Amino acid sequence: MKAFIWVNILFLVNVHGALQRVDPLVLIDQGLVKGIKASDGDYSKFLGIPYAKVDLDDPFGPAQTAPKFEEVIFLAYDNSRKCPQTSRFGSVESSASSEDESPDCLRLNIYSPSKASIRNPLPVLVWVHGGGFSGGTGNQYEAPNLVEQGIVIVTVNYRLGPYGFMCLDHPAVPGNQGLKDQYAALRWVRDNIAAFGGNPYNVTIAGQSAGSGSILLQLFSKKEKLFDKVIAQSGTPLSPDMFTPGDPDVAIKLANYLGLNTTDDQKALEFLAKTHHSLVTGAAQSLGMEFRPCNERSFSGVENFIDDDSYALSNEQKIKNTPILIGNTDTEMNADGDEYFEKDFFYTRLDEKFSLETDQLKEIAEIMRHYYIGDRPISKEIQPEAVDFESDFVFNHPIQDTITNLLKDNANPVYSYVFTYVESGEGRAGHGAEMEYLFNMTQPDDKARSETGHIMVDRLTTMWANFIKYGNPTPETSELIPLKWSPVTATTRPYLNIGAELLMEERFLKDRMAFWDLFQSVYGKSRRTIRKVASKLKLLKLKM
Ligand SMILES: *[C@@H]1O[C@H](CO)[C@@H](O)[C@H](O)[C@H]1NC(C)=O
Ligand SMILES: *[C@@H]1O[C@H](CO)[C@@H](O)[C@H](O)[C@H]1NC(C)=O
Ligand SMILES: *[C@@H]1O[C@H](CO)[C@@H](O)[C@H](O)[C@H]1NC(C)=O
Repeated sequence: MKAFIWVNILFLVNVHGALQRVDPLVLIDQGLVKGIKASDGDYSKFLGIPYAKVDLDDPFGPAQTAPKFEEVIFLAYDNSRKCPQTSRFGSVESSASSEDESPDCLRLNIYSPSKASIRNPLPVLVWVHGGGFSGGTGNQYEAPNLVEQGIVIVTVNYRLGPYGFMCLDHPAVPGNQGLKDQYAALRWVRDNIAAFGGNPYNVTIAGQSAGSGSILLQLFSKKEKLFDKVIAQSGTPLSPDMFTPGDPDVAIKLANYLGLNTTDDQKALEFLAKTHHSLVTGAAQSLGMEFRPCNERSFSGVENFIDDDSYALSNEQKIKNTPILIGNTDTEMNADGDEYFEKDFFYTRLDEKFSLETDQLKEIAEIMRHYYIGDRPISKEIQPEAVDFESDFVFNHPIQDTITNLLKDNANPVYSYVFTYVESGEGRAGHGAEMEYLFNMTQPDDKARSETGHIMVDRLTTMWANFIKYGNPTPETSELIPLKWSPVTATTRPYLNIGAELLMEERFLKDRMAFWDLFQSVYGKSRRTIRKVASKLKLLKLKM
């Protein structure tokens, strides 16, 4: 408590004092943190604060409590540190070098409006980045337009690829380390965000793609609920591409590839811990390995994040009365490349999700084919229908299914959207299309943004900010947002079509979704359990 009073004084003096150039200074248990004033905004940034520590002798193991700062004042000016990247999914800097990478990467960034203080604590957004659980960082998400709406934003780095998502039959590395890192960040926010002018009891967790899958897993997990509201953009663990049964031999395979002849997990882990991370991530890439959340094996004395074998993606106690904002873009998936059209993708996709005899699988793949393309053969000619099928299979229906699950657990209110806006007015909004309107990412060039693009920034950030503050994206109508966004109910499913205009519509893709609902009610019993879902699913040029 004493610390907070101190912080309050320091924060007020420095932010509201006459000396505008004096940097904001904050006191937390770890010590003093000095941030920087944004050059073109009324807020402060605290970059690269360590929220937990990874022991470099045990980079795959649990994170430790963040140590006290060694410096008298920790200068939070630098957010170049990244978790080792296994893929360039979601990486804005295409020429990202590995020099800034280290498994000891559990850092977060805080953006706090100047008016925030202990006496005026503001709602908090904790952003979990996407990148297919193997790439990306929280460092590339600066959201001045959201901060200006009076929100404290925290963007989090968590371990990725082999460091974050190895699932072994070994108590030291049972899996989901990256999700446990995210949980540690939520704990840090609960304990420390008041010092930065945030309200620890007014927290929204949000993410896109793999980040969205992550935050829904934070919601479903049995861990303490350290947040109040949830924003899930284009990603759910119910998607067949977001979960893996986990290859228990992955550490051995990596060690073998890197020259250690062993069949022993422990020896493999010790060897990999001593090997430079760039070699480990390089080996993972060469071997085409994919790392995802998984069901963990139980070991006595080891606390699991996801421990239930028949993981139900349900948790009424935690979900009841939680405000949720959830949706996707118009066209989440691509389907291109000659190779793609050489195989019966209806069959291979259904085989990933349903455990059926070959004959029956052939039969249902045929029904599926007739539904999407009639009697036409599979070829590049049917590319638009293939895109629909892939989008329905990976995102559209799993997200509708997630909404169904959340309603069963009495989430309330649940707001659903589909983002359809494209800057040129042509084409369709692909995976991640909404992101550039919420965050100022490097691309595209701001100058190229049309007038309606600027309106989109204002609309999206206002609705998101309203949800973060009040759990309601449209508490009142205005010239900017002339309608009220109706939440879904047990029997009706309105959604906001976020395009050049805002339109309240009902039942997204109602025919296709009804077809999938029926399909699932017939074959749902044959649905592969998450543990059995093949891990070798290839994402189709998807930037998760
Ligand atoms: C690996 O070790 C086993 C058992 O010690 C041995 O039989 C095998 O020849 C070794 N393989 C290589 C490639 O060194
Ligand atoms: C985002 O906006 C902030 C403040 O306006 C600016 O300092 C930063 O450079 C911008 N980042 C990008 C990637 O445009
Ligand atoms: C969250 O913050 C908003 C904006 O400051 C406030 O109106 C709201 O009452 C807060 N909610 C809670 C539960 O504290």
